[in-house]
Amino acid sequence: MSAAPINPNKALWEKGDFTRIAETMRESGEALVQRIGITKGLKVLDLACGDGTTALPAAKLGADVVGVDIARNLVEAGNRRASESGLTNLRFHEGDATNLQEITDHEFDVVVSIFGAMFAPKPFEVAKEMVRVTRPAGQIVMGNWIPNDPTLVAQILKISSAYTPPPPEGFVSPMTWGVESNVIERFGAAGVPAENISCQRDTFVFTFDGTPAELVDRFRLYYGPTMNAFDAAGKNGHAAELQKDLEELFNHHNTSTQGTSIPATFLRVTVRA
Ligand SMILES: C[S@@+](CC[C@H](N)C(=O)[O-])C[C@H]1O[C@@H](n2cnc3c(N)ncnc32)[C@H](O)[C@@H]1O
Repeated sequence: MSAAPINPNKALWEKGDFTRIAETMRESGEALVQRIGITKGLKVLDLACGDGTTALPAAKLGADVVGVDIARNLVEAGNRRASESGLTNLRFHEGDATNLQEITDHEFDVVVSIFGAMFAPKPFEVAKEMVRVTRPAGQIVMGNWIPNDPTLVAQILKISSAYTPPPPEGFVSPMTWGVESNVIERFGAAGVPAENISCQRDTFVFTFDGTPAELVDRFRLYYGPTMNAFDAAGKNGHAAELQKDLEELFNHHNTSTQGTSIPATFLRVTVRA
């Protein structure tokens, strides 16, 4: 019997341990969930949820939350965190944002995907699935990093790409989700008129109890895209250069004198289904 083919999208996120990055994003996750109006009793899907940076606080507000993610290790971490928090209104399971076959139409009042579904391939399929599983007049909220934005994450991905071989032909960059016209086109193809879509800039802050260089180490050791960049740079003898570029970037954006605090701008997309 032949082994199942490797899904590179799944392999990328199972390679590292995103929990070690998500730990620096918890405060912003909590604040965001309050800002977008999650309340008791709402049925919420957190899509590409990681270990629950937004799913957990949404459940703590009393919503009935399902987290779906492609990475098995993060689903396990999410379920562990839910049980440690004593939450019975939150469960995580494995699934692919391009095909949410286990979810019936219109099941959720709110679908949230913060720096999540943007990383799935086939963006038109992803938009279609998000709309399909949201009830009519329900809400979809996406957080998407913005290409070429000068702040942290867009620059990490930009620097990393300079050390990585070009992607395969036909690859659609996740960063294209950070451009409003693409968002409108993708949700438009899923049947949502442009007037039901709004985009605004928002901020997430990475907070870390260590130096900016130590935070770079976390990305190098645990964040799939950065791990791949270091693998590629290492093969060409450029790993030290990549480390230096990232340390300069993190130091430049650090606003704290004790530890590390780095704000990063993203596009917050709100869609009325
Ligand atoms: C940058 S992490 C963000 C996780 C989480 N939303 C958070 O805010 O902490 C990106 C997440 O997207 C997930 N992901 C990537 N492609 C996916 C897909 N096709 N379907 C479901 N999840 C996916 C990854 O496994 C990872 O957990």
